[in-house]
Amino acid sequence: MAKEKSIYVCGECGASSPKWLGKCPGCGAWNTLVEAVAEAAPGKNRFQALARSQPVATLSEIEASEIAHQGTGIAELDRALGGGIVEGGVVLIGGDPGIGKSTLLLQALDALSRTVKTLYVTGEESGAQVALRSRRLGLEGSQVRVLAEIQLERILAALEAEAPAVCVIDSIQTLYSEQLASAPGSVAQVRECAAQLTRTAKASGTTVILVGHVTKEGALAGPRVLEHIVDTVLYFEGDTHSSFRLVRAVKNRFGAVNEIGVFAMTERGLKGVANPSAIFLSTHGEPVPGACVLVTLEGTRPMLVEIQALVDSGGPSPRRLSVGLDRDRLAMLLAVLHRHAGVAAFDQDVFVNAVGGVRISEPAADLAVLLAIQGSLRARALPRGFFAFGEIGLAGEVRPAPRGQERLREAAKLGFSVAVVPSANVPKKPIEGLTIHAVERVEQAIAVVREL
Ligand code: TYD
Ligand code: MG
Repeated sequence: MAKEKSIYVCGECGASSPKWLGKCPGCGAWNTLVEAVAEAAPGKNRFQALARSQPVATLSEIEASEIAHQGTGIAELDRALGGGIVEGGVVLIGGDPGIGKSTLLLQALDALSRTVKTLYVTGEESGAQVALRSRRLGLEGSQVRVLAEIQLERILAALEAEAPAVCVIDSIQTLYSEQLASAPGSVAQVRECAAQLTRTAKASGTTVILVGHVTKEGALAGPRVLEHIVDTVLYFEGDTHSSFRLVRAVKNRFGAVNEIGVFAMTERGLKGVANPSAIFLSTHGEPVPGACVLVTLEGTRPMLVEIQALVDSGGPSPRRLSVGLDRDRLAMLLAVLHRHAGVAAFDQDVFVNAVGGVRISEPAADLAVLLAIQGSLRARALPRGFFAFGEIGLAGEVRPAPRGQERLREAAKLGFSVAVVPSANVPKKPIEGLTIHAVERVEQAIAVVREL
C-alpha cells in the first residue's frame, strides 16, 4: 500500500521511476535515485506553506519589522541563536552522540515551559528515560510535555492538539513518514519529515528544534538539503572527554552566525561559561616543545587556545593529521615553512591538535600552528607566557588578523607576556606587561622565536 504512493527521483536530473534503479533512466548517473512522495494531497502545494504567497511589491514599500527573539532562559544558547528562538523558526542542532544535545534541549525546554507551552518528542529514549534525565538535572516538577513517538503523522497530530510554542524533535533521524517505504534515517525519510515539520512550524508559528546526528566525517547525517530547509543550523562541538562544549551557529536566517555559546558539562547538566577565554589551555607546569598558544576570536569574545604539534620521523609516506584544524591548510603551512623559511618536514609525520576539542577555522591560527611545528621539530619550548596569531600567505607573508588589539589585550589580561604578531596588528600604544615582536614574513617569525 505504502509503496504505491512513492516514486524514485534522481537527485541529479530529476527523472523519476516507479521503482528503484541503480542507474538513472534519465541521465545515466549511478546510485542517484532516492525515494520521494509521488504527489502531495490534492490542493496542497508543497511549497505554499514554506513561503506564503504574497503579491509582488517594491522592496522599500515592504514593512520590515524587527524579528522578535524570545530568550530560552539559557544565555549561552541564546547567544548562539542570535538572541533566542523565533516564532515559526526551525532550528537544526547537530553533534556527536553523547555530546549533550538532549541534555541542553531538555534544560532549555524546562526554562521555556515556565512561560510558554512546550513539547519534547523523543524518538530515541522512552518517556521514563527522559524523566530520569530531568530528575538528574534537578528539574523537579517540570511542566514540559513529553511524547515518545517516531511516526511523523502522529507527531503532527499531537502538535496540532497540543499547539506548543516550542517543540523539540529528538531526533529527526528516528522519524518515519507512512507515505514512504524507506527506513527511518534514510535520505528520503529525513528530508520528508523535516519538510513536513517545517511546513507545520511556518503555518502554526510553533518553533521547531530538530536534533540531527553527525556522521564520522563531521557532516550532518542525511541529506545536505536539511541545512537548506531549516532557518538556523547549530553545531555542538567539543571533546566528549573534556567537560567543555561549544555551540556554534553555521547558518542563521534570524541573526549573525559568528557567535558561539560555551558550556561546561557538569553532574547537573550543561552550565553556561560566561567568560571562556582561558578554558582551552592545557595545564602543564613547564612550557613544552610543540605547543603554542593562539588567540582566536569567535564572535565577540577572544579565546586562548593551545595548539599542539608533534613532528616525528615518518616512514616512506609521512602522515599529516590534524584535529580541530584544517588538514589542507596544514599541508600548505608545511610547504610555506619549507620554501620560505628553509625548515623541511617532508620526511616527517606531522600531527597537530587544538586542545579541548575546539574547532578552529580562522586563518589567523596559521602562525601559531607553524610555530608549534617548528618548536616540535627543534625540540625547543617557546617561553612561558608566549602566544601568536596571524594569517600566512603562500608567498610567505604574515597577514594581519581582524581585531588584533582585542586579542592582544585579552592575552595580556590573562598574564601572557610575549607575542609574535603581524606588524599591522601592533598597537600604537604599548600594552602593559606585553612584549610584542612584529613580523611581516614567515622567516622573520622563525628567526624571532629562535632568539627568545
Ligand atoms: P546527551 O544529552 O544524552 O547527549 P546527546 O543527546 O547529544 O547524545 O548527553 C549525554 C552525556 O552527558 C552522557 O555521557 C552523560 C553526560 N551527562 C552529564 O555529564 N551530566 C548530566 O547531568 C547529564 C544529564 C548527562
Ligand atoms: Mg540524545
